[in-house]
Amino acid sequence: MTRRRITAHVTSRIRIAALLTVAACVIAVSTTVPSAQSRAQTPSWMDPTLSPQERADLLLAEMTLDEKIAMVHGAPGVYTGNIPANTRLGIPSINMQDGPVGIARMPQVTALPAPIALAASWDTEMAQQYGTLIGEEAQSKGVNVLLGPMINIVRAPQAGRNFEGFGEDPYLSAAIAVAEIEALQGLGVIATPKHYVNNEQEHGRGQGSSQVDERTRHEIYLQPFRAAIEADAGAVMCAYNKIDDVYACENDHVLNEILKDELGFQGWVMSDWGATHSTVAAALGGLDMEMPGGEVTDGIFFGTQLKEAIESGAVPAERLDDMVRRVLIPMFQMGLFDNPMTGKHYSAARTDAHVQTAREIAAQGTVLLKNEDVLPLDPASLTSIVVIGTAAGKEPLSVGGGSAEVISAMVVPPLEGITERAGSGVPVDYAQGDDGASIDEAVQLAEQSDVAIVFVGVYSSEGWDRETLVLPEGQDELVRRIAAVNPRTVVVMNVPAQVLMPWTDEVPAILVAWYPGQENGNAIASVLFGDTNPAARLPVTFVNNTSELPTVDVNEPMGNPVHYDEGLLVGYRWYNANDVEPLFPFGHGLSYTTFDYAHLALTGPAEGQVQVALDVANTGSRAGAEVVQLYVDFPPGLGEPPGQLKGFQKLYLDVGETEVLTFTLTADELSYWDTSISGWTVPTGTFQIDVGASSRDIRLGGSFDVINPDLSAPLTAQPDTTDPDAAQPDAAPPTATYLLGLAGLLILVAVGMLIIRRKKGQSQDQGDSRTA
Ligand code: BGC
Repeated sequence: MTRRRITAHVTSRIRIAALLTVAACVIAVSTTVPSAQSRAQTPSWMDPTLSPQERADLLLAEMTLDEKIAMVHGAPGVYTGNIPANTRLGIPSINMQDGPVGIARMPQVTALPAPIALAASWDTEMAQQYGTLIGEEAQSKGVNVLLGPMINIVRAPQAGRNFEGFGEDPYLSAAIAVAEIEALQGLGVIATPKHYVNNEQEHGRGQGSSQVDERTRHEIYLQPFRAAIEADAGAVMCAYNKIDDVYACENDHVLNEILKDELGFQGWVMSDWGATHSTVAAALGGLDMEMPGGEVTDGIFFGTQLKEAIESGAVPAERLDDMVRRVLIPMFQMGLFDNPMTGKHYSAARTDAHVQTAREIAAQGTVLLKNEDVLPLDPASLTSIVVIGTAAGKEPLSVGGGSAEVISAMVVPPLEGITERAGSGVPVDYAQGDDGASIDEAVQLAEQSDVAIVFVGVYSSEGWDRETLVLPEGQDELVRRIAAVNPRTVVVMNVPAQVLMPWTDEVPAILVAWYPGQENGNAIASVLFGDTNPAARLPVTFVNNTSELPTVDVNEPMGNPVHYDEGLLVGYRWYNANDVEPLFPFGHGLSYTTFDYAHLALTGPAEGQVQVALDVANTGSRAGAEVVQLYVDFPPGLGEPPGQLKGFQKLYLDVGETEVLTFTLTADELSYWDTSISGWTVPTGTFQIDVGASSRDIRLGGSFDVINPDLSAPLTAQPDTTDPDAAQPDAAPPTATYLLGLAGLLILVAVGMLIIRRKKGQSQDQGDSRTA
């Protein structure tokens, strides 16, 4: 799987780095033998042969109470968050900066496409590149803790921060987050997945309580956090909101019981900015660091007040040691002591290579929703183009707002990118289309042009949720008027997440480019003209109208407390369960080529796994990438939503090329949160699996029975008879995996018979000896 390949890359990079370090040490040792005096001066915790835990303990033993307190709250400084260096003990400063979209609010950085666009690439290698780019710019700026990624789930389409996250599905979010975190931390930048937990809207975020049942919390909202922790994220940011009426940053249940005990998180929990509400309750409830903090005497909760609480015994001294240890361990782990950052906040971080990467990710994240023979555009056969919309010209919608906003001084507006790519032979006209006269002008130009490209969109930011999913400022009407006069109208949407698209049937081509970052115009031109063959898929479902939504009507104020009444039926799960045909389903996206799926083969359960293999072929006339998606139906009667994403792979295929793909399902993918034991259970019964090009475009299916929850034998897997290739008498021969499966089955049966015969023999022997 792609994810494995990436892990292997990262691991091998770390290995190479480690080898180089060892080599460097050997050279250093052989040329400069330290004097007895300098050896004595090297503090014990600087011995790199010790484990991060041992080093943290050695250092902790030297720290005074005041020094410990200074490590658990922020102070003023040049970064978003600052823990000053301790020069007496040689502890480097902790420099924290937002965030999920790149280095926020600092000059000379790269404005990346929004994370929702990254998720739309369904490409963990893209996520690795995204993390690497942010990590490198963090290094240049001296940032050693990144306040991201943002891994809250898109539950309500109008929520203000949806663009910062990875969509409505926990499996996709987890995969993208892990790849990004591994890349970041591979460069020595500590990641801070946020906001823990159930911070899925802005409305009332400071006081609102998210009321979520435990099974839903585990199966949906905790999944990306669980994966991030398995990927060794060094810090986690707790959220502003309450959970079951207790603030997230002093919530013993979600911090101590779930995050630290159940999920085994070893790093530190920092509060969101101003999300600390107490001293003793927060310290005992699991918070390890108050941010942004302030001077120690400021009346902040983890300054003088925490010191007094330690002195009075209201907070045990061991708890403070635990907080500090949790900060120090990731610092040692990620090399903050051994390779301190040398970058400065004012240094330039953006490079040409970064800009290229930003363009590539933006293009790879652009979803082709609809295309009736209009795209790609061919300049050789075009005589004129008109580009319409403020987002195409003077007000490009390239980045979202709030703490994640990246200053994008070098934005390429769509008009510029398209004009340049169209070349001098194709005149490109432009109209803003934002008021009466300018709309008339746009319509007139559209009438005269070969192709009309209309940019529509909406701004979104932290701090507020959109009140409606309707595109603002009459943009729906603009699209309709253009489409009425030009049969080759292409709509490009710069949106943070879902919007309503009542004109879908009236236009032949639609693209979602999200917030594409500074390479906006170049990226969209590359997709429009076919330099990039679109290969993105929706990480969220687009509905026909708001009455289809699982969450509260967008015209109602979002509830407070927020009742997660839809439970497990978040996003596409809801539409599947309620038989609603959405406008564009989760996982949907077109290409300029076509793909064929065949020869599904299932093997297992055996040795804790089920293998799913199939052939995917590029049957069109262009090289391109397909995102093969695997959805699982649990045995009936458990209350599990139908068709849950449990695997995906992105596959680049040349024209005519076929590749065999294999998915592996383990207990991780096949268990549900069993409230009766407060744990994960693999249920027995029949699982159905569907493989397809979206959650609604299923090409092949099969089923298998789980008889033993440990996924051991017997083998029961069957492709569906609905698989045309499996059913056809003249179908191509089964794939090797299938044959292996059959061979496995025969061997198991033979071994089983042998065992039974031997056992019979033994019991006969025993019986014989007893009767003797
Ligand atoms: C946001 C966090 C951000 C912090 C620091 C808060 O308003 O919720 O995501 O990291 O500010 O800028």
